[in-house]
Amino acid sequence: MRAAEPGEGARVALLWRQLWDAHDGWGGYAATNDARVYDQIAQRLDADAIVRGGQPILGRHVHIVAEHRGEIVGQVEGWFDRQGVSPATPYTCEVRSLIVHEQARGVGAGRALLSGLEDAAWALSRGSPVVLAAEVLEPNPAHAFYAKLGYRPVAYCTRVVSREVAAPRNGFTARIAHEGDALAIALLESALASRRRSQGDFRFDRPRAVDAALVSSIAAHLASAASAASAASAASALMSAARSDSAELVVVDAKGAVRAAATFAVGPLEPPFVPTKRSMLGRFALDPAAPATDVVAPLVALTQRLAAERGAPTLELTDLSPPGSPLHTATLAAGARPWSRVLCRSASPR
Ligand SMILES: CC(C)(COP(=O)(O)OP(=O)(O)OC[C@H]1O[C@@H](n2cnc3c(N)ncnc32)[C@H](O)[C@@H]1OP(=O)(O)O)[C@@H](O)C(=O)NCCC(=O)NCCS
Repeated sequence: MRAAEPGEGARVALLWRQLWDAHDGWGGYAATNDARVYDQIAQRLDADAIVRGGQPILGRHVHIVAEHRGEIVGQVEGWFDRQGVSPATPYTCEVRSLIVHEQARGVGAGRALLSGLEDAAWALSRGSPVVLAAEVLEPNPAHAFYAKLGYRPVAYCTRVVSREVAAPRNGFTARIAHEGDALAIALLESALASRRRSQGDFRFDRPRAVDAALVSSIAAHLASAASAASAASAASALMSAARSDSAELVVVDAKGAVRAAATFAVGPLEPPFVPTKRSMLGRFALDPAAPATDVVAPLVALTQRLAAERGAPTLELTDLSPPGSPLHTATLAAGARPWSRVLCRSASPR
């Protein structure tokens, strides 16, 4: 296990291409077949290798290759970050781009790459807790591999086609959040934080006490989003949210009380992916007293429309509770299908 060296870019780019082809086969976003794109990746890897000077860690990014009998046979990337604001929240090292060449599988390279990444994450955290997290598409046979290495599912994702859908007439309405929703959102955030922890997902902050400071910081965030949108009416807010990169959404009941909140985000997929937009609805925070299916249906319908307006062909519903739970079941009832899961393991020193 080591850093890639200058001149090895083409071999590593070949691994990357194999990985994206595999993802394509599992229903992931399509990657390009344009050889020039992979040449550019190879050149970039060679330039990176010079800067790295033989060290797998460069800033918050880790890149490790596996060598076996003189050949590069695998690679893994890691992105090191902290998801929350509390110093008590563990760091996260996102496991990305793990691949072992088909002819080198089953001899321990995958395990060794993840051990190397864990060591690097541990070094970056300087002894503070770190969680390794990998998002794995449902059809990928690698679930069993991760399970053997002690990774456990902590969050689930489903996916739905983006399109114009009529909002359900069930007494609940989804809309863009405004400043006046800050207290309700703060209370729901606590429910979200508790749900994540009960699922074994420790990447985020613990539930916070709802105090004036928290409410005013949420209100300020919502106000700045609204002023950026320069929204005078609900209709123009919706149009602006559809153009901006993210939006806070809420669901209100017939009396106007906020019963759920979630965050919508959309962004471009860069090469080597065939250019398109990726859109996500996550951070679902539901009032436990409201029927999940009834509050999720209008949220998904609104976001399908926002995603379609932004040119994203599909919408991922992320950060969900396990299959069979009310939230997961509600996304299926809204037309989504299982898409991926996030597998985590707490790093430990060797
Ligand atoms: C997943 C992958 C990286 C595993 O690499 P590998 O080098 O074959 O794995 P290892 O040899 O280190 O296997 C470690 C353990 O997992 C097991 N394992 C590996 N792949 C497995 C599979 N598909 N099903 C069940 N068990 C598997 C091995 O038997 C071994 O178990 P053992 O310790 O009891 O002997 C490799 O199959 C691959 O590149 N797949 C395509 C890309 C991919 O899916 N990447 C992950 C994207 S999130």
